[in-house]
Amino acid sequence: MLIPMVNLKVQYEIMKDEIDRAIKEVLEDGNFILGPSVEKLEKEIASYLGAKYAVGLASGTDALHMALLACGVRKGQDVITTPFTFVSTVETIVSVGATPIFVDIDPRTYNIAPEKIEELIETKTSFNKKEGILINKENGNQIRAILPVHLYGQSADIEHIVSLCSKYNLLLIEDCAQAFGSEYKGRKVGTFGEIGCLSFFPSKNLGCYGDGGMIITDSEDLADKIRILRNHGSKVKYYYIEMGFNSRLDEVQAAILGVKLRKIDKFNELRRKNASLYNDCLRGVDLTTPYEDEHVKHVYHQYTIRTRYRDRITKCLGNEGIASAVYYPIPLHQQPVFKRLGFNTGDLKNSESASLEVLSLPMYPELTEEEIQRVCKTIKDAMSTT
Ligand SMILES: Cc1ncc(COP(=O)(O)O)c(C=O)c1O
Repeated sequence: MLIPMVNLKVQYEIMKDEIDRAIKEVLEDGNFILGPSVEKLEKEIASYLGAKYAVGLASGTDALHMALLACGVRKGQDVITTPFTFVSTVETIVSVGATPIFVDIDPRTYNIAPEKIEELIETKTSFNKKEGILINKENGNQIRAILPVHLYGQSADIEHIVSLCSKYNLLLIEDCAQAFGSEYKGRKVGTFGEIGCLSFFPSKNLGCYGDGGMIITDSEDLADKIRILRNHGSKVKYYYIEMGFNSRLDEVQAAILGVKLRKIDKFNELRRKNASLYNDCLRGVDLTTPYEDEHVKHVYHQYTIRTRYRDRITKCLGNEGIASAVYYPIPLHQQPVFKRLGFNTGDLKNSESASLEVLSLPMYPELTEEEIQRVCKTIKDAMSTT
């Protein structure tokens, strides 16, 4: 039997009646764009995560893009972020005209390391206290924001990042695409900065059946700006007050997400249980299982091990019909498209070495104990031949 990375079919089978009913209601209602399901979902997600406002968008990438635009991040400004992430995090910084400044990760959590942000600030910037502006001495730009990613479902060291943002008057935009429901000291990620960005890509912890995204914020002004941006720059039909986009979460996706949101705690708990089964099964094996920060509630979007024997393990898993994946094989500072940013191999060693050794194993709520044991046995067999 094949074991995929995620199994959306089995999840649909479990929720079929509720999902089908929710879709049917939208079809019968005949209202497909910016209708009652999106409005309801926005309220429910804002309340679930503990934010005042939520705005549904067409994707997580758009959520990042519009968050940056609404915050006024632009050309001549820098944004501190991680190179160990999906490309959206960084392509959106570039698309608003700003410059990404990569800072290396903590090798245990794979999240941006606040100590390294501090190091960068101390060595490469000057802070104009009077104006509250942090200047990058190398390019003369104002450093405007920090954009951390809560990778694999685990919150970054957000308290430390928040303290740096307030010390240096920086905006905080959180990329929560992989961490819906994850917490830091009991508070949901996405609520620590100006804006939290969510993705509902099908394989995400809360995923729809197409593309979808959302921003959450406590600022009425930012929520308002993003509502205008997502709808062609208009608030009133056929009256355009600024350049905008077509980036609306649609009613069918919102209705599906409404059903899944009611089960998200259960799904995330099952992911945590599966992670713990993996940990037990892999104890004593010569590889590194995921590190959980003591302040964090990890929601295991990915269960990612670290091993020197990645190729061998991947091959053996593949031979047994077991999927595995590398997130991410090349850090963004080494990607051809971002070479012009001036980072070289060796500049961000933790990200570079992680990219050579990380391996994500199948992870979804419906994964069975037997399947986890099969994955682990295959890994152990692969290791015994090393
Ligand atoms: C860390 C991260 N940021 C942003 C995104 C972009 O989300 P989307 O695919 O919904 O545009 C993703 C996921 O695909 C992601 O994993």
